[in-house]
Amino acid sequence: MNNKTLKVAFFGLGYVGLTMATSIAERDARVIGYDIDTEKVAKVNKGETPIHEPNLSTLLRRNIVKKRFFAIEDPRKAVKESEIIFITVGTPSLQDGSINLDYVKSASETIGKELRDLEDYKLIVLRSTVTPGTTCNLLKPSLEANSCRICGKDFGLAYNPEFLREGSAIKDTLHPDRLIIGEMDEKSGDALEEFYQWLYHDELPPTIRTNPDIAELIKYANNAFLAMKVSFINQVANLCQRIPNADVEVIAKGIGLDRRIGPLFLKAGLGWGGSCLPKDLRALLKFSRSKGVALPLTEATLFVNEIQPLNAVKIAEKLLGDLKDMRIAILGLSFKPGTDDVREAVSIKIVEELLRREAKIVTYDPVAMENARIVFGDRVGYSKSALECINDADCSIIITEWPEFLKIKPKDFVSRMRNPIVIDGRRLYDPEDFSSKLRYVAIGFGSKI
Ligand SMILES: NC(=O)c1ccc[n+]([C@@H]2O[C@H](COP(=O)([O-])OP(=O)(O)OC[C@H]3O[C@@H](n4cnc5c(N)ncnc54)[C@H](O)[C@@H]3O)[C@@H](O)[C@H]2O)c1
Repeated sequence: MNNKTLKVAFFGLGYVGLTMATSIAERDARVIGYDIDTEKVAKVNKGETPIHEPNLSTLLRRNIVKKRFFAIEDPRKAVKESEIIFITVGTPSLQDGSINLDYVKSASETIGKELRDLEDYKLIVLRSTVTPGTTCNLLKPSLEANSCRICGKDFGLAYNPEFLREGSAIKDTLHPDRLIIGEMDEKSGDALEEFYQWLYHDELPPTIRTNPDIAELIKYANNAFLAMKVSFINQVANLCQRIPNADVEVIAKGIGLDRRIGPLFLKAGLGWGGSCLPKDLRALLKFSRSKGVALPLTEATLFVNEIQPLNAVKIAEKLLGDLKDMRIAILGLSFKPGTDDVREAVSIKIVEELLRREAKIVTYDPVAMENARIVFGDRVGYSKSALECINDADCSIIITEWPEFLKIKPKDFVSRMRNPIVIDGRRLYDPEDFSSKLRYVAIGFGSKI
C-alpha cells in the first residue's frame, strides 16, 4: 500500500463496525462510518460511544478530534470517498432461529446503487456473520444488479469473518489470532491482504485465503466449537456438584493441560449468552437442516445451555424453600464482564425465572444498568453499588464475574444480608474461604445440598 492516506468506510457502527473503524483511524486512515441509526451517528460524532468497550472511548474521541474518523447519514459520500467498504451490519435471528439477512440485503442495495455512477474500483468486504452462500448468492448479485457493474472487474468482493470478543474488542482487532479471507477472485483477496499488511505493519497474523463459502462456514464452525467446549465443562460441573470434594476448576485445569484440549473456554458457569453464540448456533442448525444434515453435537450444546442458568434458581429453592417474597440480590447483568451488552444474557433467564416464583429482585451491574432497565423495567430494583444490592438479601447470586465483585468479602455478605447465602455462578470466590464463613454454593463445587 503506498503512502497516500487510505480511505475506508463502514456500513454499520455497532460493536464490530465502531471498534474496527476506530482502530483503523488510529493507524492514520480516513474512516467514514455510515449507519441507518441517526441517533448513533450524532453520538459518535460527539465522540460518545454508544457501547461500553475498554479503551474505545479514548480512541474514538482522539480520532474524531483529529478528523480521521467521522460518522454520516449519507451513504453516497461513504461509498464515493472510500477505497474499501466494510459491511458490519447485524445479522440477528428470525423468530424460527434462522438468520435474518435483511440488513445485509439493504446495505448491499444501498452500496450497489451508489456504485453505479462511479468509475474507480472499490473493494467491498462483508464482515457480518452470515450463512454459507450469502456472499456468492445474495451479496454479489445484489451489488451487480443495483450497480449495473461487474464483480471482479469493476469492483472487488470478499467475505472476511470477524472473531473479536466483546470486552476486549480493540485488543482483538489489533491482535487477531488469524485472518480468514474468503475472496470472490484473486484481485479482491490481494487487495484485502494488502490492507491487512498495512494495518498490521507487515506482521500479518496467520492468514487463510479461501472461497467465501468456506470462510462463512469457518466462522460458524468456530463458534459452535467454542460453545461446545463451555457446554461440555458445564455438564462436568453439574456432575461435580453431586460429588462431595469434587471441583470442576481442578478438573478443567487437569484436562486443559492436555495440548489436544487446551485451557481456554473451560470455565464452568451458568451458561453462555451474548449477541453471537446463541443466535449463530441456532442459525447454523437451521441452515444445516435445510441441507438435510443433522448436527446432534450442536443441538446438545444449545440444550445444555438452555437449562444451565436454571441451576441457580434450583439451588436457591433448595436452600430457601419457596422463593415467594424472598429478596434475591443479582450481581452482574451483562452477558460477560467488560461490556454493557445484555443481549441473550444469562441474567435475563434467571431473573425471569425468579420473577415467575414471585421473588423480589434487586440488581446491580457496573455498566449494564441502562440496558437492563430496557429489559426489566420496574419489575426489579436497581442498586447504586454491589454492597447496596446485597443489603437485607436472602440470597446473592453472582451472574457476571466483574472483577469489582472480588472486593466484597465474606464479612460484607454476613453483615449486610438477612440470610447470608451466596450462589457463585461464575466461580469468582475462593470456595474454601467462603464455605467456612457463610452458606456458599458454587457451580461445579461438590456440596451436600
Ligand atoms: N458483537 C460481537 O462480539 C461480534 C463478534 C463477531 C462477529 N459479529 C457479527 O458482526 C455483525 C455485527 O455485529 P454487532 O454486534 O456489531 O451488531 P450491532 O447490532 O451492534 O450493530 C449493527 C449496526 O448496523 C446498523 N445497520 C443496520 N442496517 C444497516 C444498513 N443497511 N446500513 C448501515 N448500517 C446499518 C445498525 O443500526 C447497527 O448500528 C453480526 O453479524 C455479528 O454476528 C459480532
